[in-house]
Amino acid sequence: MVLLPIAANLRRGRLQAMIARVAQYDDVQEAVRFIRSKTTVTPQVGVVLGSGLGAFAARVANPLKIPYRDIPQFPTSSVAGHAGELIIGKVGTATAAIMSGRVHYYEGYPMERVTFPVRVLAALGVTKLVVTNAAGAVNPTYTPGDFMVIVDHLNLTGANPLCGPNDERFGPRFPDMSSTYWMGGREAWHQAARAVNVALHEGVYCGLAGPSYETPAEIRMLQRLGADAVGMSTVAETIVAAHAGLKVAGLSVITNRAAGLSTQPLSHEEVKEVGTRVQGPLCDLLAEMVGRLG
Ligand code: HPA
Repeated sequence: MVLLPIAANLRRGRLQAMIARVAQYDDVQEAVRFIRSKTTVTPQVGVVLGSGLGAFAARVANPLKIPYRDIPQFPTSSVAGHAGELIIGKVGTATAAIMSGRVHYYEGYPMERVTFPVRVLAALGVTKLVVTNAAGAVNPTYTPGDFMVIVDHLNLTGANPLCGPNDERFGPRFPDMSSTYWMGGREAWHQAARAVNVALHEGVYCGLAGPSYETPAEIRMLQRLGADAVGMSTVAETIVAAHAGLKVAGLSVITNRAAGLSTQPLSHEEVKEVGTRVQGPLCDLLAEMVGRLG
């Protein structure tokens, strides 16, 4: 008697999960069809621009700009400083698809929405993904305005975008994450940095859910866990990219010292201000980097 409704619920749950899975694959295909109707270019490199780092758009030759709101199923951001357009064009000799703006988990989007654009980039044909973000320095030797090549990450968002039934068309159930930020990408960052004469750290990025900044005690904890920088993005996108077999190259722009490491309170204004200040060298570095990945 009692078992019947449970069995029915289980069946319904499985059915809903199956429908959600098919829907997501179809949604990705629908977005891809729309983008392909606008251009015949197949991008080789995907780029995700972090908060306030949108100036890179100006470095793209022959850009086709598609507002996110025009792309079927694409999530659109509510955060100031995230313009929200997909730019397809050439960076050096590479063809690139650049996401100017991303959506965040803290905005209330489920992880599958946060990472939807990465699946679209993969389905468009991108094989390498450059992810960038604004981050706080957990490592006390870092200074605002520094750049850090992401060599690994800690996913402390409390969620994983691959939870739920796995769709093998996107990737395997248990993707390997042991060399996600691939060595070739790390080397390419250093070559690019030498070419444009900027200094780079190498470090571990810790992704948290946000939107509140961390407490000083949390930052001390992250230091003990091996984090060098902390932010509210990137890790979910990287996991989905790894699932899709993409090679990921990550860069954090250090916009502030993390909580407790400075006498100043943290503010989004400071994060944006430093982001704006380093835009010139950052754009030089990114242009060199993306050009090398084509
Ligand atoms: N913490 C979390 N996210 C951030 C920070 C920070 O200090 N700076 C920029 N994004």
